[in-house]
Amino acid sequence: MSLVIALDGPSGSGKSTVGRHLARTHRLGYLDTGAMYRAAAWYCHHRGIDLMDADAVVAAVIELPLEMDLDPDSTRVVVGGTDVTDAIRTTEISTHVSKVATNLEVRAELKARQRAIIAREGTADGWSDGRGIVAEGRDITTVIAPDADVRILLVARTEARLARRALELHGTTDASAIEATRDQIVRRDADDSTVSEFRAAADGVVTLDSSHLSLEATLAAAERIVQE
Ligand code: CDP
Repeated sequence: MSLVIALDGPSGSGKSTVGRHLARTHRLGYLDTGAMYRAAAWYCHHRGIDLMDADAVVAAVIELPLEMDLDPDSTRVVVGGTDVTDAIRTTEISTHVSKVATNLEVRAELKARQRAIIAREGTADGWSDGRGIVAEGRDITTVIAPDADVRILLVARTEARLARRALELHGTTDASAIEATRDQIVRRDADDSTVSEFRAAADGVVTLDSSHLSLEATLAAAERIVQE
């Protein structure tokens, strides 16, 4: 029987780490939907499209030649044969991705692709051979996979999220790294807040607050939620 685990949460809440861990443990595919929005932003940028030109952005995203590797140990993102796994994580893309992600037609296109990937993992044609998938992103538990077997909303206080991202991006949590990260994370939280689909936990979604938990404790808590 196939298993679908849906993980929601804001920047730095630990979605990717928890998601990859659960996918490995349960031998499931892993889909980072944020990476799909990032790839869309990268593609528009690469083609010289002005991100404020909504029609051009939508047209580009509809034909976006995107391949998502569902292996939690690889998670390669390929656009038109180019490996963009690292290129979609630059500050430039992080800064501009919300412009693409708040476009409703872009969302409709990527949501359809996400639902198709999740459905395929329930079959023998999928990467996981039908075992299922962990899908993560800000609207997964509410919009993309409201019927998932397990739905978790990961949250953490802003300071904890900033410290994690600063460590990830700058290798330190000193004051200047925190401030550089704050600018990016807090502004993106604000930009994303215009999307009505990013809500608080819906009924049946389990909230996991990792503000005061170590990585190991967070992973163990997520695993307990899956086992329940
Ligand atoms: O890096 P971070 O964890 O903050 O975000 P991400 O998961 O890589 O997602 C990057 C951006 O994509 C978010 O800031 C949203 O604008 C958008 N996104 C979305 O609109 N819907 C999703 N399901 C996932 C991401």
